[in-house]
Amino acid sequence: MTKNCVGIDLGTMYTTVAGGNGARLCLPSEVGFPKDVVAKHLIGQDFVLGSDIALHRPSLDVIRPFEKNSLKYAIGEEELRSFQGEEAPLNRQAACSIVRHAIESLQLPDPHAARCIVGVPAAASQYSQLLILELVEQVAQYAAVVSEPFAVAYGIGEEAKNTVIIDIGAGTVDFCYYYGALPKTGDQSTLGIGGDHVDEELRSLIHQEFPTAKVSLLLARKLKERFGSVGSTARTAVAELPTRTGEAQEYDLTKIIRDVCLQFASKVTNSLLAHLSAIECDDFVITNTNILLAGGGSQLAGLDEYIEKALSLSGRCEVSRVNDNRFAGSMGALKLARELPADGWEVLRTQQEQTNDTSEDFKAA
Ligand SMILES: Nc1ncnc2c1ncn2[C@@H]1O[C@H](COP(=O)(O)OP(=O)(O)OP(=O)(O)O)[C@@H](O)[C@H]1O
Ligand SMILES: [Mg+2]
Repeated sequence: MTKNCVGIDLGTMYTTVAGGNGARLCLPSEVGFPKDVVAKHLIGQDFVLGSDIALHRPSLDVIRPFEKNSLKYAIGEEELRSFQGEEAPLNRQAACSIVRHAIESLQLPDPHAARCIVGVPAAASQYSQLLILELVEQVAQYAAVVSEPFAVAYGIGEEAKNTVIIDIGAGTVDFCYYYGALPKTGDQSTLGIGGDHVDEELRSLIHQEFPTAKVSLLLARKLKERFGSVGSTARTAVAELPTRTGEAQEYDLTKIIRDVCLQFASKVTNSLLAHLSAIECDDFVITNTNILLAGGGSQLAGLDEYIEKALSLSGRCEVSRVNDNRFAGSMGALKLARELPADGWEVLRTQQEQTNDTSEDFKAA
């Protein structure tokens, strides 16, 4: 029954989920565990999710289970076994809680009959794919994985044919050439860094240049999102930051933010070039192909213009952005879950089992 179908995008920063009954949810991919027995007593729960984390933050150890590409991208066989042991590490427990909450929140007509398609990084190791399947199958009857950018393309449908989708997330940047069939190995790839890496670089450069400023990763992310740009005109970034003496002070961060964002855009473009040269399809010609930016990182100002210029594509190839970067992946995964015939689920599973680990080339670039 298509009402029990589910599409999930398990993001490093946000998990989004869409149900065949029309329900959908976006949840930060983080779990708060009480710091000690007193915190647990006061909160009255073993863990908290969503907006409850902000409510109790000082009493919690907050874990982002997918950060640093753990779990869903690059785990090996031994690590998978450690996750399957009786004493599951905290990040696996956290991932499990997120998946369970996301699916249960949909209130499907028959939750035990849920059929889920889950988006994973394009070059996720086969052990990461297995782990994600295991997590989802704790709650759902069937699960299958596809790459995140493929899910985005499938959701758009006919219009996305002959398009290279670049899904720019917090943990990875994923590329997929879509032509209306399941991608082959060469048609998709992953750059093993994303927006989190930019935030770390930005924080470290601000501290280097302005030792008195105090910048958390969260603040670095906000500064990047507000002032970051890679187009022909830089955004002026004068901002008040907290200092080590406790007072706020104004700093001119224009050059630092611009440099960090340009470095990231250059890495994305280099990976895109490597991706384009690896596409196997004989009919592929870049100037007849559109490029579609998805994921939160697609919001970086001027990125479309930067890619067009860097690839000398101006006027010859359109670089655009998806309409809804938050739900494009989960809605596409849901569409596939609803439309996939019964034997298609088996095909996706078999394909997953045969996946070779192709992530080495791009890992931690
Ligand atoms: N205006 C903006 N400029 C630059 N980056 C942005 C902007 N808005 C959001 N981002 C970045 O997008 C990233 C989050 O994107 P998204 O929600 O697609 O990631 P995710 O799906 O959780 O991660 P992943 O797919 O890598 O697992 C964050 O790094 C965030 O800072
Ligand atoms: Mg994502």
